[in-house]
Amino acid sequence: MKTMKRNLILFFIVVFAVIPAYTQKSNIIYKQKDAPVEERIKDLLSRMTLEEKIYQLNQYTIGENTNVNNIGEVTKSIPSKIGSLIYFSADPVRRNTIQKKAMEESRLGIPILFGFDIIHGFRVVYPIPLAQACSWNPELVKSAAEFAAKESKLSGVDWTFSPMIDIGLDPRWGRVAESYGEDPYTNAVFGVATVEGYQGTDLSSPYSVAACLKHYVAYGMSEGGRDYRASNVSQQSLWETYLPPYQACIEAGAATVMSSFNDISGIPATANHYMLTEILKQKWQYDGFVVSDWNAVSQLIHQGVAKDGKEAALKSIMAGLDMDMKDNIFLENLADLIEEKKVPVERIDDAVTRILRVKFRLGLFDNPYTNIVDEKDRYLKNEDILLAQKLAEESMVLLKNKENTLPLPSPVKEIAVVGPMAKDKSNMLGSWSYHGKEEEVESIYEGLEKEFGKNVRLNYAKGCDFDGTDESLFAEAVHIAQHSEAVIICLGELKTWSGENASRSTISLPVIQEKLVSELKKTGKPLILILSNGRPLELARLEPLADAIVEIWQPGIAGGTPLAGILSGRINPSGRLAITFPYTTGQIPMYYNMRPSSRPFREMGNYQDIPNDPLYWLGYGLSYTDYEYGKATLSSEKISKDQKLKVEVAVTNTGDRKGSETVFWYINDPVSTISRPVKELKHFEKKELNPGEKKVFVFEIDPHKDLSYVDSNGDRFLEAGDYYVMVNDQKLKFELTE
Ligand code: BGC
Repeated sequence: MKTMKRNLILFFIVVFAVIPAYTQKSNIIYKQKDAPVEERIKDLLSRMTLEEKIYQLNQYTIGENTNVNNIGEVTKSIPSKIGSLIYFSADPVRRNTIQKKAMEESRLGIPILFGFDIIHGFRVVYPIPLAQACSWNPELVKSAAEFAAKESKLSGVDWTFSPMIDIGLDPRWGRVAESYGEDPYTNAVFGVATVEGYQGTDLSSPYSVAACLKHYVAYGMSEGGRDYRASNVSQQSLWETYLPPYQACIEAGAATVMSSFNDISGIPATANHYMLTEILKQKWQYDGFVVSDWNAVSQLIHQGVAKDGKEAALKSIMAGLDMDMKDNIFLENLADLIEEKKVPVERIDDAVTRILRVKFRLGLFDNPYTNIVDEKDRYLKNEDILLAQKLAEESMVLLKNKENTLPLPSPVKEIAVVGPMAKDKSNMLGSWSYHGKEEEVESIYEGLEKEFGKNVRLNYAKGCDFDGTDESLFAEAVHIAQHSEAVIICLGELKTWSGENASRSTISLPVIQEKLVSELKKTGKPLILILSNGRPLELARLEPLADAIVEIWQPGIAGGTPLAGILSGRINPSGRLAITFPYTTGQIPMYYNMRPSSRPFREMGNYQDIPNDPLYWLGYGLSYTDYEYGKATLSSEKISKDQKLKVEVAVTNTGDRKGSETVFWYINDPVSTISRPVKELKHFEKKELNPGEKKVFVFEIDPHKDLSYVDSNGDRFLEAGDYYVMVNDQKLKFELTE
């Protein structure tokens, strides 16, 4: 009897518990690591309730409060089924605690995606992106992104809101610091390098993070350089200037995109169907997701296209926005909008699919937790710091060097080091350096001390503050200058003067800094200006006073050593500007690839009060050696549309120092249906040359890529006719036949 009862119990266990559990397990495709991603998504989607789907489309923030006593509270208030978090913390344990809730307490165990702004490094802060572009070394920039990804991933971040590939045409706009400058091709090249660095070849590898292209699109066109304003941009400019870097980075596999704050000729990017759906998702076949910028969904109300949150949710989701950053507007309104049949469930499913796709690609379902690694093995590895030094070195630009003021003559015995930037650390980090630590920055002064050791006496005086009217420190600065052989004057901008919400009506340095230089000029000593800033500066008054100028941008944690090396001559500067320095603020916009004037002769249309040219064009930068360009040659003077043309130029280092030269190749199409810019950068290459060494630089012109252009619908076409290829001061003509 007892045995029968036991068998019966066993039977029920098998039928009602084991078999269903077994069958259920085998059916859970989304949990199977080896199943194809698209099948896993389909399976998971079919199991999700509408509420669970809507939660995936929302991003919360966590960690603004770093007080340990509050962490528990904040963590508890995060719904376990939320789609994503902006993660301010650097603590992987904390991340894992939050993730554990999502994995174990949400019904389906969907991992949370942790995002953060890793713009130019995590704990090792690299030079700002604008500076990075001045290195013209995409490999170096890619490596920096790779290292930044590793530090981020080990801190609990899976997704960085970077690169920013907005074209920076107006330096009054503080966000030019975050871009790769004024040129679409340069932004495309460095954007792709950064995406490749962050994502690696496999997004699910332990040190990869997902990239986010931002801010889509034409944000850099903000009127008057004021942030968050409307961009009145023509269709032609959109297609020819603002969209190309995005297209290139989408083709390179960027995982996500962030829509911009601005409205684009009347339709805010957050609710712009043409941009988000027709171009990005349909024309370019992008299969990742689009996240809004911070509160940008609710801002549709301020922008005058939605009367309330509900309408903002409706307009943005139907335009093609997939994730609402920070606003909760999707969470609060989408269910009602679906109920009212204003938003079809298919649109929700599409957005969820895109978000899940990124999560699957990142491997979050299979490895949701961050590996816990000791802090000392996580951050500030020696090779990262060396890379930061190298990148800072290559991004510094020698702007002036009258009668070889630099390198400092040897033996120099006594140098004055003056200026608010000389011992500053915090501002060297630049904007968007949240996890960077001031105490880990090497200042200019420290770099000089290390470089010159006991052989040179450094006389320091601050001279003045960054801003204000207090001239009381001038006298001391003048005094030490009088007793020194040369004066290194370290000027610049606070890090809060560039980046987001940091527009300036003038791009010159505050008067107090200019006055300090005028006072020091009176000593008759050689003046070496060191500039640390997040945008091009107006140098019309400072340039004539200086004997030498080195632009170091905001170099991050490791700028002191490379700058000191440039000043001593241990390093030969090789940076070239990736953005034009206007002569004065009133000259803005000023960029190298303008369209031709209708009256280019006899100085017609020029300014009456200032030179018509900027102070320094894109591509400008000096070296301690000389490069001689041989005669450039074409492989043919006539090619058909499907042929390629090779242009070559030999460059010789004729000086007595090793150096690196960047050769820039431009194209000009003098007669075309739509007028083309006076020149367009199509290729660049940087090579190291020993004294006396000659190297050949080659540009292979592919007509479909390099000579074609887009019309205002984005349709690309190629016209037969004459073209010019330009290198250095040479202009070579060739013909394109049908
Ligand atoms: C900025 C974005 C940034 C986001 C999240 C916004 O205010 O415009 O660039 O990624 O905040 O921090």
